[in-house]
Amino acid sequence: MIEEKVDSLKIYTLAEDFSGYNSFFWAQHGVSFLIEAKIGEDRKYILFDTANHADPILHNLQLLKKEISVVDYIVLSHNHYDHTGGLLGLLKEMKKSVPIFAHPDIFKMSYSVDPYFRYIGPPINMREEAEKYGGMWVLSREPIYIVPGIFTLGEIKEEERVEWERGATRVVMINNGEKVEDYMEDEIGLGINTQKGLVIFGGCSHPGIVSMVKRAIEISGISRIHAVIGGFHLVSASDERILKTVTALKDLGVEKIYTGHCTGLQAECEFRMQLNKNFHKLHAGMVISI
Ligand SMILES: [Fe+2]
Ligand SMILES: [Fe+2]
Repeated sequence: MIEEKVDSLKIYTLAEDFSGYNSFFWAQHGVSFLIEAKIGEDRKYILFDTANHADPILHNLQLLKKEISVVDYIVLSHNHYDHTGGLLGLLKEMKKSVPIFAHPDIFKMSYSVDPYFRYIGPPINMREEAEKYGGMWVLSREPIYIVPGIFTLGEIKEEERVEWERGATRVVMINNGEKVEDYMEDEIGLGINTQKGLVIFGGCSHPGIVSMVKRAIEISGISRIHAVIGGFHLVSASDERILKTVTALKDLGVEKIYTGHCTGLQAECEFRMQLNKNFHKLHAGMVISI
């Protein structure tokens, strides 16, 4: 059971697939959030994911009047290029030593095979290159408490997921010369205990967003869920899975959904219809105050 809470959160959307309407912010494929947590007189800044390119993130930061050098910790949700691609460019600009929380398999090479073979993993030599610029890897399958009230969700194995969130993917990795299915067990999320309940972040939410929310409840012992934020990877999901996901999140009492990226238009429409004004479509530059 987590007793500690952050007093308030300000979440700056530094990267998103949608720029927003009539917006000066730059969109790109991927997500990145700067999370400002106020704890008493203290402020801690966590960078959750780095999208694919650093430049649009630096541009958006300028418009938001924030400096990348404020970042205290980096969390990488999983190995895909649209979450890790901006890392090296951002570390270069930070010019300081920063812990990077991730799963031990974050460096694995993954490939998409549909509709054609292409590399979708992290930057080549990300481990060494990040260290060169001051990154300090903190690799764990287990949840880690980053600051009081803020924790990573750790690994959620295929067999631990809600049954209808399991299943074959069209992503492969090469392991010891063998082509194997990649169940993306390297995806870790982030949970934050706030005065209003839990706030849960997913990158692509490959383990399934419902399984991730359930894991955050298990770890923290807190069942009030204020918000779930990030990409939910329902872009190619069946109608049935989309409906089950929206219903399950509602049944868990999720108060607000902020999503975009790989969630897909159909799932977004379903969230909008069922959650009404408590559904928010993410866009680059969006600032969420909790
Ligand atoms: Fe993604
Ligand atoms: Fe992904």
